[in-house]
Order: sequence, then C-alpha cells, then structure tokens
Amino acid sequence: MKEEIIEYARKNTTPVSEILYQLTRETHLTQVSPQMLAGTIQGAMLQMISRMIRPNRILEIGTFTGYSAICLAAGLTPPPDLLPGKGRDRGGVLHTIEINPELESIIRKYLHEASLTDAVVLHIGDAMKIIPTLDDTWDLVYLDADKPRYPDYYNLLFPRIRPGGFILADNVLWDGKVLDPPEKWDKDTRGITAFNQLVQLDTRVENLLLPVRDGLMIIRKI
Ligand SMILES: C[S@@+](CC[C@H](N)C(=O)[O-])C[C@H]1O[C@@H](n2cnc3c(N)ncnc32)[C@H](O)[C@@H]1O
Repeated sequence: MKEEIIEYARKNTTPVSEILYQLTRETHLTQVSPQMLAGTIQGAMLQMISRMIRPNRILEIGTFTGYSAICLAAGLTPPPDLLPGKGRDRGGVLHTIEINPELESIIRKYLHEASLTDAVVLHIGDAMKIIPTLDDTWDLVYLDADKPRYPDYYNLLFPRIRPGGFILADNVLWDGKVLDPPEKWDKDTRGITAFNQLVQLDTRVENLLLPVRDGLMIIRKI
C-alpha cells in the first residue's frame, strides 16, 4: 500500500499513548530490528480486536519489546483500572513468551510504566518448551514468533483454545513471498505457507486472512 495512504490511516486513528510512543522510540534507539515492533496501525488493530473479544486469558508468542502485549492487554476483562486493590485473581491475564533474554529489561520497564505488571506474565525462553507448562485455556492467542514453527504452534495450542476463542497470526503474507514458486521458498516461507494451508483445510475453524500490513490470519475455533 502507498506510504501516503498508510500515513492518512495513521492520522485518522486514535494517537498512541505516551508510553507506546516512548517504547517505540527506545526500540528504534536500542534494537537492531526495530521494524519487528507492531507499530501504530497494527497495535491499534490488536487493541481494538482485544477490546471487542474481552478475553480473560491471552497468550502471546513473540514479545519483542512488548508493544503488542501492551495493546492486547488493554482488552483484558475486567480492565485493570476497574480492580483497584483487588489483585488479579478476578481479572484477566496475558502470558507472553520471548526467547531473547536481552529484551527482558525493556519489556519489564514498559509493563511497569503501563501499570501492567500484575496483568502480564512474562516468560523468557523458547515458546515450544514453555507452552506445555502453561495450564490455561486461551480466549485469544497472538502468534508472532519464529515462522517455521507456526504449524507446530497451531497444533500444540489448538486443544488449549476454548471453543469460540481466537488465534491471530501475524506475517501470513510474508512480504508477498507466499506467491513465489515453492522451489524459491526459504524455511520461513515454507512455515507460513504450510500454516496457511493447515488453517484453510481445518474444518474445526473459520478463518479470515486479512491483507493488512504483512497479513493477519484471524482464526475462530468453532
Ligand atoms: C516480530 S517479533 C514480535 C513483535 C511483537 N509481537 C510486537 O508486535 O511488538 C518476534 C519475536 O519473537 C521472538 N521469538 C523467536 N522465536 C521464538 C521462540 N521460539 N520462542 C519465543 N520467542 C521467540 C523473537 O526473539 C522476537 O522478539
């Protein structure tokens, strides 16, 4: 999409909070691949979807610096600001998994600034090892980590999604490489295309591949 159109969409979207602005700035100043951060439109979309679903249990795979976690947590039910002094026992919780331990301090810093330290549980480690240790049933899962493993994550997580629950998977158009001939696919493109086909053939779900940014697959477990 033309950059001017994206800029127009940005200008007609609720501006990001000061915390997300500072997180974006620090990510660009300190990280080698700052473009991995969700950003204004994607973040606002995740926040809006989460607010519509009102999930009680969210799982995010691939935290990076925490932008999307903060956006998704905004929809947790009941909202953190409605529970003054009551702890999180009745409130929603978001679990987020990041493999890179060097990101821990920046993630924790911004979760603290967003008053989300009680609502968000950060796991540092490999999602494939951590997911089986989590005992929850998920209302919403956001998949945004290593692309070759998307099909494995889907199969691993599926039994733990509640009926009527959602999976959102980012980057499912993989910069248009999904249209390349299969002999040109690298391991990321193979993972993404296998995932898209797995979901499309799965009669247990309804799914929508939304061609926004790098493609967002929205999956609802029937
Ligand atoms: C695209 S970034 C996530 C961006 C973030 N969700 C956001 O929107 O701001 C992908 C992240 O997944 C992490 N990652 C890659 N493989 C992983 C794994 N096996 N387990 C957990 N995290 C992983 C990477 O270190 C990276 O920080």
